[in-house]
Amino acid sequence: MADTRMIKVLISGGLESSLLMGMLSNCDLKIESAPDMTAATEVPGDSGYGAVVASHLSEGDASALSGFLKRCGEPPLILVGKGPAPDYADTLHLDEGISADELVDACRSMALAASGAGADGVFDSRGLVGQSEGIRRVLNVANKVASTDSTVLITGESGTGKELIARAIHRNSPRRNAPLVVINCGAIPGELLESELFGHEKGAFTGAHRARPGRFELADGGTIFLDEIGDMSPDLQVKLLRAIQEKCFERVGATRSIHVDIRIISATNKDLALAVEQKRFREDLYYRLNVIPVIMPPLRERRSDIPLLAEHFMEKLARRTGMEKKQFSPEAMTTMTAYDWPGNVRELENLVERFSVLVDGNTVEKEDLPDHFSSELAGDTAQGVPLYCDVRHGVNFQESVEQHQKSLILQALNESNWVKAKAAELLNMKRTTLVEKIKKMKLEESSTSSAV
Ligand SMILES: Nc1ncnc2c1ncn2[C@@H]1O[C@H](COP(=O)(O)OP(=O)(O)OP(=O)(O)O)[C@@H](O)[C@H]1O
Ligand SMILES: [Mg+2]
Repeated sequence: MADTRMIKVLISGGLESSLLMGMLSNCDLKIESAPDMTAATEVPGDSGYGAVVASHLSEGDASALSGFLKRCGEPPLILVGKGPAPDYADTLHLDEGISADELVDACRSMALAASGAGADGVFDSRGLVGQSEGIRRVLNVANKVASTDSTVLITGESGTGKELIARAIHRNSPRRNAPLVVINCGAIPGELLESELFGHEKGAFTGAHRARPGRFELADGGTIFLDEIGDMSPDLQVKLLRAIQEKCFERVGATRSIHVDIRIISATNKDLALAVEQKRFREDLYYRLNVIPVIMPPLRERRSDIPLLAEHFMEKLARRTGMEKKQFSPEAMTTMTAYDWPGNVRELENLVERFSVLVDGNTVEKEDLPDHFSSELAGDTAQGVPLYCDVRHGVNFQESVEQHQKSLILQALNESNWVKAKAAELLNMKRTTLVEKIKKMKLEESSTSSAV
């Protein structure tokens, strides 16, 4: 069981924060406070908070707070009084009139519940919805790997929940009270990524006015999540490999080596094995990262989760906006369940949000769905390429596979304005192979549509 004296509580909320501070001043919790949310969220997100207490948030505060909570490993949130609330699963709302003892008890029990999660062998899969065979398999691996220090590589299409699983693994690991540091290797320009990862010394390059630690140092004792690892440059791949193998690295411009104790989880939506084959990704690094593979199945391969997820997002939105929860008509749900969801769970989440805003009345009807949902099923998309096949009545396998290929290629070409090199990259395919397929399928720019 966690030692309550080590539980830190971050307090924010202007004048109210001093009242809360007063209430907590004589208890045995270790308190840290901040005068307002801007100051609070500037605290490095690595402090192993047992709970975060906040009150009287503004709209802007609420979204800053949710970013902060993510950065520091998703501790429970206790909100005192009324006002906007971040969209956050582990939240306890308390009345303004709460007594000091009640607040201390709430902090203690929330923090203990969170830190005890996973310690009793029960995997804490908070916020992760799904009961399909596919998601169970993922959770089973995540559960086994959480207690170890093994390196994990999470692969899967965009929007399948890779980051969510990475967070769950960290939350259920013995490192859960230390930071989970996330870095998106694809979003940071190559020349900056090295200093982001490993830090730099003062004067290491133009603009380096101060020495700065990198994410590896910030993650010491915890987990680093290297997102979109497939986008890393070859040079940096060499440095990362060394950092993983020897658990040490140098800041840019430094000679002294730094040793850290971190667990590495990485993720990609690219086919890394293919990238290795095509010499775009180092084979030795691939094997180092891929010790425990976790493969996120696309949503179309776990259709039974679609209704559960749709309900979950609708409920979440209703909670956030205070509006009544909308229902789905059986026809709408059947159509949604049959749709292929190329953007996976993220696409579903966004669509549900659109429904909650745009649909009048309490029920989402089939007619409220975007046009391509039905046309895809009917097999009459502009390309004549149905993505969904109902195997119950038998299918021509070869033909369906070819149609699916055609659909993917057209989507990639549309996405890249028919720049074939870019489309080939999206498909993880050689440009020459793509050109050959385009010729064989007799695809022309005019044969595309913006649908799908
Ligand atoms: N099983 C799930 N239950 C509830 N929400 C989910 C689930 N899977 C994904 N989501 C939600 O879908 C969105 C996309 O998930 P996430 O960011 O983890 O995907 P990703 O695989 O990392 O995507 P990308 O490759 O684009 O980075 C998030 O808002 C996440 O909370
Ligand atoms: Mg992601």
